[in-house]
Amino acid sequence: MINGVVEPLTLYAVSGILHRGGTILGTSRKNPTKNEEDIEKVRDNLRRFGINALIAVGGDDTLSVALHFYKQGVPVIGIPKTIDNDIKGTDFTFGFNTAVSTVTEAIDRLHTTAESHHRIMVVEVMGRHSGWIAVMAGIAGGADLILIPEVEFNLDKVCGMLKKRHELKQFSIVVIAEGVKPPEGKGFAKQSNKVDEFGNVKLGGIGQIIGDIIEKRTGIETRVTMLGHVQRGGSPTAYDRVLATRFGVAAVEALHKKDYGKMVALRSEQIITIPLEEAVLKNKHVDMEFYKMAEIFFG
Ligand code: F6P
Repeated sequence: MINGVVEPLTLYAVSGILHRGGTILGTSRKNPTKNEEDIEKVRDNLRRFGINALIAVGGDDTLSVALHFYKQGVPVIGIPKTIDNDIKGTDFTFGFNTAVSTVTEAIDRLHTTAESHHRIMVVEVMGRHSGWIAVMAGIAGGADLILIPEVEFNLDKVCGMLKKRHELKQFSIVVIAEGVKPPEGKGFAKQSNKVDEFGNVKLGGIGQIIGDIIEKRTGIETRVTMLGHVQRGGSPTAYDRVLATRFGVAAVEALHKKDYGKMVALRSEQIITIPLEEAVLKNKHVDMEFYKMAEIFFG
């Protein structure tokens, strides 16, 4: 919208994209609300191309931008799309189910080496502010320990638990969300000090940090896998395709009703609209009921 690159979404243009991941429109970490000049360019381009409403599809950053323009009088509807599932007001975001399936499959595959080589396999997954992927894929994959940003952990306890487990089982799977804070350190484990236009750092490396400590303290051979963008790509699951379709249809209906400034959301299997303001207020953390249930199987 800043550069005025516009693509008419004809039936032909959107044909055959249902099974594809990502976005045919392309995306960026650009924040168009950062300076007045870009804001003006967006407004000019909306006028120039006769765009009378925006449907913003994305996570907390995209939806905050959408809210900004709504407050400036642009008719806007939001659709919650992120693998992190950390948007408030919706039970699920689309993309999450696919990521959980991918991570679960990875955990299944890591079990092979864990069991045959009697190792601890640490798997680092995405989840900047919340550990939804770690918890759900961890439960589905039978993780023996899950570490998430929402729950403090004690490394002595972690190592003690893994050592004890290895007297009986001889292998363990540990799932760690990338947003987990390094022990005795401040901030995040990151790959560079650069921040994007929304202030996000490039996370990565907490699995290796904790994996190294575990190996040193327990004496058990430990290997670390960072799944990275593998978990954010590929063909979406049927669940995500259906959810994305429902959200899309509901967003268009909301536009017709002039129900602007809203985000479509899933609540107890129903699609509703909620104020965008509510959705972007803060991140949705993991439901502790799930984490407590996962804990039953730790060790
Ligand atoms: O915001 C979603 C997310 O998947 C985060 O969990 C992750 O930290 C980030 O994207 C990675 O973004 P990028 O593709 O810019 O490295």
